[in-house]
Amino acid sequence: MSKALDGVRILDFTHVQSGPTCTQLLAWFGADVIKVEKAGEGDATRGQLRDVPDADSLYFTMLNHNKRSITLDTKNPKGKEVLNTLIKSCDVLVENFAPGALDRMGFTWERIQELNPRMIVASVKGFGPGPYEDCKVYENVAQCAGGSASTTGFDDGPPLVTGAQIGDSGTGLHLALGIVAALYQRNTTGRGQKVLAAMQDSVLNLCRVKLRDQQRLDRTGVLKEYPQYPDSKFGDAVPRAGNASGGGQPGWILKCKGWETDPNAYIYFITQAPVWGAICKVIGQEDWITHPDYATPAARLSHLKSIFDRIEAWTMTKTKFEAMKILNEFDIPCGPILSMKEIAEDQSLRATGTVVEVDHPKRGKYLTVGNPIKMSDSLTEVVRSPLLGEHTEEVLTELGYGLEAIAALRKEKVV
Ligand code: COA
Repeated sequence: MSKALDGVRILDFTHVQSGPTCTQLLAWFGADVIKVEKAGEGDATRGQLRDVPDADSLYFTMLNHNKRSITLDTKNPKGKEVLNTLIKSCDVLVENFAPGALDRMGFTWERIQELNPRMIVASVKGFGPGPYEDCKVYENVAQCAGGSASTTGFDDGPPLVTGAQIGDSGTGLHLALGIVAALYQRNTTGRGQKVLAAMQDSVLNLCRVKLRDQQRLDRTGVLKEYPQYPDSKFGDAVPRAGNASGGGQPGWILKCKGWETDPNAYIYFITQAPVWGAICKVIGQEDWITHPDYATPAARLSHLKSIFDRIEAWTMTKTKFEAMKILNEFDIPCGPILSMKEIAEDQSLRATGTVVEVDHPKRGKYLTVGNPIKMSDSLTEVVRSPLLGEHTEEVLTELGYGLEAIAALRKEKVV
């Protein structure tokens, strides 16, 4: 079967997480992704958080599937020549170096355009143009600067970062979309272009509803679906909302049977207005269907705490899975709090290819997250990540280098 991005060749100059997430997605859609790594060292994550001695870490293997790896010293003049050839033969260059690194290497936008005017140059940076544009950035910096940390956590606690890697993997996703759009536009213009996804911008995009709430707060001084309402005061910035739902249907995390010993025996419960009657029946509180304090969504807003306390008295009598089953029969939106262990063992996620077992020559079998985007005409097979420089000879041969020339480059430690 063909793949959506068959024929697209990516010069993958990415490292750590944000860039590699992007190029891994492109590889899953069928692009030929050639990862260029520092000779002798490779992507720093190969050695980070190692759990098997001398084998590439899970950090690396889980972000670099379906790619080819070549080593190249791009600061060496002969390495630059190889890079010139690669640039001429690729459609997209993706990089997430610190600001200015590509220019310092001698590969400015102008130079790349000279070599290949059809080249799309896609970059992840921590910040867009402005006061922080020269800063190096990692995940949590982006979560803090993008508005996520100030709006995550509980009112009486400090700002919190989330486990979801919205700064790195979230930005990688944004960049991948920009690249695909630029490839599409190139079909009509014939030209490449620069694509930038700044981590702060991507996090802010994912925190869009909080900027919505800031403006509602500015206008009305109150956010009635937030846990601060009606008992506490609001300040001038959107407060942390604990586990309150980000939308118009109030929700909260409630204890389930076993919560005393199992840290994940909880369920997310949404009191969606159309099923309010069903909720009241399930929890045995039918008088709330018509009671003036509870009958309408507006009336319920000032009683959310007591409502969730009452629902929790019911959920605590059921395991999260029993509660899910009963609530779903009434179309009441809810979700179990799943641990990573439960997710790793979930057979339905294995069946869809969202959780995949991969074999690796040095580390053996491991689990990874497969392509979360499913396409009917472009199926994803997850192929293990490459060893450092595994495809150096193969790629150089494709670029027209003979065996002797390759041996000479090796001798001089250029590859
Ligand atoms: N051959 C020779 N040199 C190479 C090379 C190669 N194949 N690949 C990279 N290098 C060089 C770069 O040119 C750079 O050299 P310079 O500083 O002399 O210009 C150097 O390696 C290091 O690159 P840098 O990106 O600064 O790495 P770092 O480890 O110091 O910083 C980050 C890491 C992630 C903080 C930084 O890359 C960054 O801020 N990136 C943008 C934001 C981002 O993606 N952050 C999320 C990461 S998950």
